[in-house]
Amino acid sequence: MIKIESLGELESTPTPFYFYDTNLLDQTLQRVKESSAKYGFDVHFAVKANANRKILKRIAFYGLGADCVSGNEVELAIQCGFNPNQIVFAGVGKTDSEIEYALDNKIFCFHSESVQELIVINEFAAKRSIIAKIALRLNPDVKANTHHHITTGMIENKFGLSIEEVLEAKEVLPSLKNIKLIGLHYHIGSQITDLEVFRNLSEKANQLKDELFPESSFNYINMGGGLGIDYSNPSSNPIPDFEGYFSTFHKNLKVTSDQKVHFELGRSIVGQCGSLITKVTYIKGTSKRKFAVVDAGMNDLIRPALYDASHAIVNLSSKGDISTYDVVGPVCESADCFAKEIPLPQLQRGDILAIYSCGAYGEVMSSRYNMREIPYAVYSEERLVPFTEIRD
Ligand code: LLP
Repeated sequence: MIKIESLGELESTPTPFYFYDTNLLDQTLQRVKESSAKYGFDVHFAVKANANRKILKRIAFYGLGADCVSGNEVELAIQCGFNPNQIVFAGVGKTDSEIEYALDNKIFCFHSESVQELIVINEFAAKRSIIAKIALRLNPDVKANTHHHITTGMIENKFGLSIEEVLEAKEVLPSLKNIKLIGLHYHIGSQITDLEVFRNLSEKANQLKDELFPESSFNYINMGGGLGIDYSNPSSNPIPDFEGYFSTFHKNLKVTSDQKVHFELGRSIVGQCGSLITKVTYIKGTSKRKFAVVDAGMNDLIRPALYDASHAIVNLSSKGDISTYDVVGPVCESADCFAKEIPLPQLQRGDILAIYSCGAYGEVMSSRYNMREIPYAVYSEERLVPFTEIRD
């Protein structure tokens, strides 16, 4: 994670940009591998969290699979070295061409979310005389205790199959000769920090399997992602509690000896390794309310504007006296605000700030709104010179 002492030659690098601490990414990946291997679990990286090629290549190097939600993500994952046989493809609205692309590239499994989709996948698989592997994504109606925009496993959400739809799927499946049902899939939401939620999910999954498929023995079960990160104290908690997460499933999910449990983690793998680095353009306002206008905007990092998300911000240029600021971007929207009334060492034009915990759903959600540039990325392993000039 970038610290005040370690900005290095980046001080003169044009801002804004994403800074990736590849060392922290490596440590996180090692921890994920160790903690999941202990229970024989398989982990896929949710590409939607970060589709940066260098980051993806690094993750693929550690042998993780990929969880994709579009044909382009499948294509990118393959280009970045993920084994097609470890790629799963989810999403409520897979188009015909995306399904065909995934079939042609022999991905491991489709996570299917509607009866119509099963029929379409079957048709395309039949045309190719192949059998496509399918897992049904069930909507378990379990509360995720997270922001409503990132809750996906409640009955009012569009995701997954309801019990009614599963019963319909069970009737249709025997006639679909070119798909094979290999298992079940769940994902109830993101940024979940209360492990109790995953215990509830495991219990609900046990119950749904027994009620809906008492006669089937699936060898694949995917419990999704969702493990949260510490946005308030990223420096104290740079690596999430993978051990607690996996052991919760190990303790509570009923698994038979021929079953393999899979996960698809995004945020917890890449969240803490990325920071958005931005420069103060102007200080304005009154003695009552001071605004630090920075050169990154909501187009570079949309999480605060979209979800009211709060990211820790530090002044990398100064350790001086503290003042209170709203940190705002240049975009013509009131929502273009990264933080309200936060204490920071007194800012001046040209100071460099780091917005922490931006490795997940940061760069990948950037846009060209206001015709701004897409932010670029810098990686810690490529830096050479230590940062020396810090005002005090
Ligand atoms: N699997 C499925 C089916 C998903 O929909 C998601 C995330 C994941 C796995 C990965 O979840 P994670 O481990 O990252 O929590 N843009 C929002 C987050 C959206 C999450 C969408 N689905 C944000 O910035 O908070």
